[in-house]
Amino acid sequence: MSEENTKPAGPDFAEGVPTAELAAGTMILGQVAGEAVLLAHAGGALFAIGAECTHYHGPLAEGVLFADTVRCPWHHACFSLRTGEALRAPALNPLTCWRVEQRDGTIYVREKLEPAGQPARTAAPAGPESIVIIGGGAAGNAAAEMLRREGYPGSVTMLSADDARPYDRPNLSKDYLAGTAPEEWIPLRSPEFYAQHAIELKLGTRAAGVDPKTCEVRLADGSRHHYGALLLATGAGPVRLDIPGGNLPHIHYLRTLADSKALIAAATAARRAVVIGASFIGLEVAASLRARGLEVHVVAPEARPMENVLGREVGDLVRQVHEEHGVVFHLGTTPASFDRSRVTLQSGEQLEADFVVVGIGVRPETALAEQAGIAVDRGVGVDPYLETSIPGIWAAGDIARWPDRLTGEKIRIEHWVVAERQGQVAARNMLGTRERFDAVPFFWTQQHDLQLCYVGHAAKWDRVEIDGSLAARDCTVTYWHSGRKLAVLTIARDRDSLAAEIELERMIAAES
Ligand SMILES: Cc1cc2nc3c(=O)[nH]c(=O)nc-3n(C[C@H](O)[C@H](O)[C@H](O)COP(=O)(O)OP(=O)(O)OC[C@H]3O[C@@H](n4cnc5c(N)ncnc54)[C@H](O)[C@@H]3O)c2cc1C
Ligand code: FES
Repeated sequence: MSEENTKPAGPDFAEGVPTAELAAGTMILGQVAGEAVLLAHAGGALFAIGAECTHYHGPLAEGVLFADTVRCPWHHACFSLRTGEALRAPALNPLTCWRVEQRDGTIYVREKLEPAGQPARTAAPAGPESIVIIGGGAAGNAAAEMLRREGYPGSVTMLSADDARPYDRPNLSKDYLAGTAPEEWIPLRSPEFYAQHAIELKLGTRAAGVDPKTCEVRLADGSRHHYGALLLATGAGPVRLDIPGGNLPHIHYLRTLADSKALIAAATAARRAVVIGASFIGLEVAASLRARGLEVHVVAPEARPMENVLGREVGDLVRQVHEEHGVVFHLGTTPASFDRSRVTLQSGEQLEADFVVVGIGVRPETALAEQAGIAVDRGVGVDPYLETSIPGIWAAGDIARWPDRLTGEKIRIEHWVVAERQGQVAARNMLGTRERFDAVPFFWTQQHDLQLCYVGHAAKWDRVEIDGSLAARDCTVTYWHSGRKLAVLTIARDRDSLAAEIELERMIAAES
């Protein structure tokens, strides 16, 4: 590739751009000394900030400016234009900021500013003497990082049953499984990061019990660990399929990095795979295995993939996209048994399979909470601040069921971004901030060349409105219930997705 091609696009801001070219509420993509820079005019001020999201390098110029922030079009991270701070997950690292000067009708971008200091703020004085986090996934990791970002000086210990450092779980069924994401993309942080931030990461360490009276966590090896405050972030585990042959070694589940590695090893030597379940994970696995050239069959009881979450119209499109890529569906049926080389369906049909992947949903890991006497009802019940029924014990991520201000119902959601944002809010609240968890849920899924983005939460709906064309794969699908907009799905309309998020946020704010 020539140097020309690798140079960032747009004007050189060091040479200046006419002030008239940057209207209020707009941004321009350009460069300074070979680095891509976003020049923004927001809230009456000018800002220059790195143009690539620190999550997956999303193009921020294609995102949305809102107040003094910019939101990423790909997975809705949000950055402060003033400091570059990653205000909302999934981005965890700040953006670089540059000094902006305006002179004689021209805007110039000058030198880089010092990064926003970390710890950026002073911890609330009411912080507990120590904090233990059970779970080294999305919520646990985000919470530990936020405690340090907030300047918490006490000890932070993260106990994780997993042997691997916190990693990018959504990638395990996508590029990593397809073989297009290198190993080094997967961990969220280096070992040095945890050492530098004095986060004690205890891997391969399973908590076996919690005693709220003595404020102790009992580990599986019998040892005890005292806590000043505790965060439960134990996530969810795959629902197991209890049918004949269900324990054979070629029957796989996918939750952990080790699971994904085992699948890759199986796929390397195989020709045919059967996926049980047309959920997000099952379908992402199907797409990734097709990318590896395997023959893939998907078996599921529903009439259309993902119909119960996204409706029949989107379900039909998802099916069509998979079929275009060679996936074969067996819908309206379930497996009756497995043997070493076949799956026998309830219908009697038999499918050849070198290995099987079961993705039929997950169950929240609530055993610790139940044993500790915390109120559990289809998840760990938390208040709007993510505190459980026992003061001093908080919960976040896939296990937490919290009051949703939009519907007035208690909801539990299994999304990466929700888990990280809950971890961040729980961390601040453990330090004495009283911050409601009011973030609008967001998830994305990537299957073949189809990316779906979904904001809000519609457990049920009575009207679906489609703007644009599903066939053209360019549309906005809105889910309504009782005249109320609850959720919006977009295909190839990232700005609409961000606009919907902002609209739902306004609706939540109006409820308060
Ligand atoms: C393959 C896959 C793909 C996904 N793709 C997407 C996606 O594209 N978009 C999206 O929004 N969401 C996606 N998700 C869902 C998302 O990953 C989860 O919602 C998110 O990880 C939940 O975070 P969590 O912290 O609650 O739980 P987890 O990330 O599961 O972390 C739980 C942690 O708790 C530990 N743990 C459990 N019990 C104990 C114990 N007793 N003692 C110590 N440690 C314990 C586990 O080892 C783990 O480290 C995907 C999930 C999977 C499995
Ligand atoms: S690339 Fe920006 S949020 Fe993922």
